[in-house]
Amino acid sequence: MSQASEDQVSRVLVVDDMEAIRLALVKCLHISGYEVMAASSGGEALELLRTQRFDLLLTDQTMPGLSGLELTDAVSRMHPDMPIVVLTGNTDVELAKDSLQRGASDFVTKPVNIRELPILIERNLTRRRLEVARLRERGAQVLFEAIKALASAVDAKDPYTARHSRRVTRLSLLLADAIQLSSEERYLLELSAWMHDVGKIGVPDSILTKPAPLTQEEFAVMKEHSAKGGEIVGEIEELGRVADVIRHHHERVDGRGYPDGLRGAAIPLASRIILIADSFEAMVADRSYRRSLGREAAMRELQEHSGTQFDQSLAQAFIGALDTHPEV
Ligand SMILES: [Fe+2]
Repeated sequence: MSQASEDQVSRVLVVDDMEAIRLALVKCLHISGYEVMAASSGGEALELLRTQRFDLLLTDQTMPGLSGLELTDAVSRMHPDMPIVVLTGNTDVELAKDSLQRGASDFVTKPVNIRELPILIERNLTRRRLEVARLRERGAQVLFEAIKALASAVDAKDPYTARHSRRVTRLSLLLADAIQLSSEERYLLELSAWMHDVGKIGVPDSILTKPAPLTQEEFAVMKEHSAKGGEIVGEIEELGRVADVIRHHHERVDGRGYPDGLRGAAIPLASRIILIADSFEAMVADRSYRRSLGREAAMRELQEHSGTQFDQSLAQAFIGALDTHPEV
């Protein structure tokens, strides 16, 4: 029941000063498939918790020296994600409440029903796992909202490219689906596409919104946006791969792109995808100094530059996807 679905056996630390109880608890949990370690005092338990990984702490409440409640206090601060189950000798509701307030996730009254103990342990492990997963998901959602807000701020600098990031993201995902990109890579692509032009925050408005083609000097400044974007996003440790994708979203498969002149497969896959989506979007959008090229002409351009500017097979897949999605 407990371990079959997990690839890793859960480790439980049992703390009780009474040897007979301690041994009985260890035996019961061991039989249920847990890896169990035991400590006879709170101090000993803290020592073990400092040096080893445990998934759950099962502790007696009344012990000489560090009490179960004091141990709960310390451990919930040390390992906020670890469920703590407190064994209590009496049925005092106030004591039970106190242990929950100090960070315990559950409590059991003695004598412990050995048959129910594994169920209780498993319930606490599962509940905490779900909580942690939910928090992570929420964290990712908040991050995503922040990224979209940042992307909108960049788009807002230039009325002609308003909603550009959103459209590039949509087109990138169209291509991702066409090549059946894994969900993890698809997520990386989605984040990167939203933020691909974030470095334009550092490009002067006079260049960004110039109603005419750029001079060579101005274009050199504009070209800095991909490296700058990579640096900005790279500040967030968790977004290291996204930063990499952003840095390289103007590399060409023939090595004539920027900032590093990478070639072919050396360019991150998501960067190669974004380049195609970005270029197509730029061609079909109306800009300050020119009208849209039109969908058909833009597709012909992709075709013509596939194998030099664009990844050949990705460009083919994108053209195919556009053919079957005339609404995009
Ligand atoms: Fe760009």
